[in-house]
Amino acid sequence: MSNVRPETMERITTPELANAFIDEQVALVREQVGDKKVLLALSGGVDSSVVAALLIKAIGKQLVCVHVNHGLMRKGESEQVIEVFRNQLDANLIYIDATDRFLDLLAGVNEPEKKRKIIGGEFIKVFAEEASKLEGISFLAQGTIYPDILESDGVKAHHNVGGLPEEMEFELVEPVKLLFKDEVRVVGKALGLPASMVDRQPFPGPGLGVRCLGAITRDRLNALREADAILRAEFENAGLNKTVWQYFIVVPDMKSVGVKDSKRYEGWPAIIRAINTKDAMSATIEEIPYSLLHKITDRILAEVDGINRVLYDLTPKPVGTIEWE
Ligand code: XMP
Repeated sequence: MSNVRPETMERITTPELANAFIDEQVALVREQVGDKKVLLALSGGVDSSVVAALLIKAIGKQLVCVHVNHGLMRKGESEQVIEVFRNQLDANLIYIDATDRFLDLLAGVNEPEKKRKIIGGEFIKVFAEEASKLEGISFLAQGTIYPDILESDGVKAHHNVGGLPEEMEFELVEPVKLLFKDEVRVVGKALGLPASMVDRQPFPGPGLGVRCLGAITRDRLNALREADAILRAEFENAGLNKTVWQYFIVVPDMKSVGVKDSKRYEGWPAIIRAINTKDAMSATIEEIPYSLLHKITDRILAEVDGINRVLYDLTPKPVGTIEWE
């Protein structure tokens, strides 16, 4: 398949068009792969999830999915990958909980770029180790989409975690490489993936590692994960998940004094970030109703150990970036 989207290619906007695309790709993948095995790094993000579902339909157990939990996933994400792919779609899924490996390497590391390098490098190592244990793999599937081709020489998003060392070369299977993100979502829905997976907001490859500022500790990472889960649940209850592009919690490496149960209580602040954007190049602040901010604040303060203040970031991009890092 060429890397150029033909001008005549219709935009996939309906389940019917998605089904026609799926049928066509299923036939192409079967022809390309034959009875050989295909390996896929399944992060649980939209693109790799849709590729996994498509390949399961095309070649079933000839697809081997590897999900590496780097310990920086949001609450419930790895569990959802296992539930959807292993339990519902009966995929050949290898789950690796590499939390300790990643967090041990990251201990004491403050500098954002260094943290990213460690997470990216270790991800490749863990994935390659797993790949080398498998026999008879001939192909590597990737969730490359058309913007990746337009923006970065066909390499999956410039700052994504993923890929394999160069010496491990496989022929690529990239069934959604000519699709835009909205089309990938339509195809994902037609394949029966849950909306919570297909409509997922963007999430950095290094995960919560970019939102747990400074040197990551397990207790602060846990506080971030729990506070983030509360924010997401309350946004979903209020229907804001449909209108707000990206929303999350940041927990900086600083403590302030508070008071709890009449005692001095030192804790971290949880910072709410909720933005709207078209292309992530610039962003505006979503106006969240005060009543909802109060509810989220009350829940985080009552339910999350170690957090003693909740702040709301009003900074647009520019000057701020979307992530804090
Ligand atoms: P910034 O912070 O640069 O973020 O304004 C712009 C958008 O990019 C997302 N982002 C990432 N996405 N891998 C990704 O796939 C990454 O490593 C990464 N880092 C930032 C960020 O969440 C925002 O949507």
